Amino acid sequence: MSQPSSALSLGLVSTSWARDALEQRERRKQQDAEDGDARIKVLAFANGKGGVGKSSLAAAFSAAAARAGQRVLLIELDQQGNNAEDLGFVGDKQIADDGAAQARMILEGAKLQPTGTPRRNLDVLPGGELLEDVSEELYCQRRLARHTGDHSWVGMYTAAIEQVYEDYDLIVLDVAPGSMVLQLQALVAADVVIIPSKSDPSSRKGLRLVARRFREAHEHNEDLRLLGVVLFATNTSATRVKQKIRDQLQEDLAGNAPVFSTAIRHVEAVAVQCRTLGKVPEELADEQDLDSSLQQSAAQLAKDYRALTMEILTAIHQLRLDLNAADEPDEVGASA
Ligand SMILES: Nc1ncnc2c1ncn2[C@@H]1O[C@H](COP(=O)(O)OP(=O)(O)OP(=O)(O)O)[C@@H](O)[C@H]1O
Ligand SMILES: [Mg+2]
Repeated sequence: MSQPSSALSLGLVSTSWARDALEQRERRKQQDAEDGDARIKVLAFANGKGGVGKSSLAAAFSAAAARAGQRVLLIELDQQGNNAEDLGFVGDKQIADDGAAQARMILEGAKLQPTGTPRRNLDVLPGGELLEDVSEELYCQRRLARHTGDHSWVGMYTAAIEQVYEDYDLIVLDVAPGSMVLQLQALVAADVVIIPSKSDPSSRKGLRLVARRFREAHEHNEDLRLLGVVLFATNTSATRVKQKIRDQLQEDLAGNAPVFSTAIRHVEAVAVQCRTLGKVPEELADEQDLDSSLQQSAAQLAKDYRALTMEILTAIHQLRLDLNAADEPDEVGASA
């Protein structure tokens, strides 16, 4: 892939490399389909509402998949840099680079370079304040595209990810709720979207916002799919209430995505302890010196995450089977 030329006279980064990368991705997908090997690799955790569990889920899922032997890259498209807390690398300034590697990647065309490997098999490209410059650039690109009609800027993250696509089994995107340009970048780059949601009205509104962004991204990434909705930090164990919430969420998405049957339970004390120690629930549950009630809650939360990870991996596997079956030449046609 050719690298971007230096900044244009307008002060914007050239996006011709992103256009090339979008085309290259289409060719790769076609080849995968011909080989009967459709791949579902890039997962975006997104919701237009803040505080609904995107980062907690992205970190816990990535760590669990890495522990199961998958090669995982976690990219945080968020200025908050919460992945550093979730995975315990806040103090390591080489890994927690404040978004510098992402800024170089988008603003200077540097190759996607993970800043570190906080768990075996898990590489990270963290977010941080420098993503403000990235967002600003992307908003300018968006405004310019309205005049030129050239929308290749939407593929800048896609282009960067395409360069390391073969190095990983899973590439997880943790997407900021407030930046519509970063959301669009993530959804154009993703194969599937997972939407965490609480049951309150504003989370549901955020979910509908993602659905809208989804439609926009679909124009540039027609294979994008909603994998499902995760009910997050719910404090009800009543099956009937949960079912009602599931029905409402499904209604919000016009039946376009299932709600995963595993909900993540609400246990704030464990969540706080996880971020304080920089451990995901599964790791916290293995700590020896927790008091017994915290230990018990951590074990229950870890169980939720294990079940959810299995559900997500199974849904991905099923989707791959469906795609490959759909691409198989029908026997009568093939022999004709
Ligand atoms: N199981 C849980 N029960 C209760 N609270 C939780 C649970 N898991 C995480 N939390 C807390 O919920 C808050 C939001 O979680 P998180 O940061 O994952 O959401 P987010 O959607 O990524 O937020 P943002 O939009 O700000 O990026 C955090 O303070 C976190 O500690
Ligand atoms: Mg977050």
